[in-house]
Amino acid sequence: MAGPAFRAAAVRVRVPATSANLGPGFDALGLALGIYDDVVVRVADSGLHIDIAGEGAESLPRDENHLLVRSLRTAFDALGGQPRGLEIVCANRIPHGRGLGSSSAAICAGVMAARAVTTGGEARLDDTALLELATEIEGHPDNVAACLLGGFTLAWTDGGAARAVRMEPAASLVPVVFVPAKPLLTQTARGLLPRTVPHVDAAFNAGRAALLVEALTRRPELLLAATEDRLHQEYRAPAMTESADLVGRLRAEAVPAVISGAGPTVLALAANDGEADKVSRLAGDGWTANRLALDLAGACVLPLATGSGSDAGHSGSGTGNAPGGAGSGPR
Ligand code: HSE
Repeated sequence: MAGPAFRAAAVRVRVPATSANLGPGFDALGLALGIYDDVVVRVADSGLHIDIAGEGAESLPRDENHLLVRSLRTAFDALGGQPRGLEIVCANRIPHGRGLGSSSAAICAGVMAARAVTTGGEARLDDTALLELATEIEGHPDNVAACLLGGFTLAWTDGGAARAVRMEPAASLVPVVFVPAKPLLTQTARGLLPRTVPHVDAAFNAGRAALLVEALTRRPELLLAATEDRLHQEYRAPAMTESADLVGRLRAEAVPAVISGAGPTVLALAANDGEADKVSRLAGDGWTANRLALDLAGACVLPLATGSGSDAGHSGSGTGNAPGGAGSGPR
């Protein structure tokens, strides 16, 4: 296949935060949430220029080591060739290292943007290939599936290739997140997991994960039982004791609460607005409840505002709903 041509115009990609696992669905289930990172990418004559505003503006690399750039490069290779130069503007709102899918968001933004700036990109890299590529970069499919597809997703790998189905979460659901001030590396949290688990625990989780599909789509009244987990949360609790304590306290009050992804954010799935009020009251001192919208659209390429290229932080669509973020947890 001949190398690709690139579009002269910049593209804007919007990617949602995600909460993976949701209790029993370790590395499989994910939910897209209404906090968004926006990325504008333009193919240039030479060089690599990156502007970053918001989360990570002080700490993220502005070179080839940036996860977004590595994801763009991987996707350009899959699309048939690299552009001569790139200009990138990032508006980051998803908290980093908190279990809200910021890495997956960067990866999905990169692969989507690379495809969108490549002429005939969708013919070279279809949606299935995009999911496979994003999963290869991330290492597990749960967050990237929810980020790309939106809604509630079930992901698996088939002969090493990632696959996913999207389901419609019950419209009345109100996700409430509690975001601790301190981050936790996913790598650290994964390092706490045992190599094997008792058969009885695996069987327990299989039943609960299946129940969660019904509970999250149609029967929210089953969410408390459906979010029980024996495969990862307890093993990881020593690395996030305050979050584990909050999950325990909320669950004792019949609130379906879980650790979001690898933590340390706590996610409560309130069945409606009234339940969300209750969740906020129960959390207690030191915790700030952030109600989020469900994201139903997943990652998307948006029109650029007039004169754009430098305005990625001002989408104008009104769908962003950032939480209190770092600093809103216990002190
Ligand atoms: N399923 C993953 C984990 C999500 O719990 O390690 C974190 O990215």
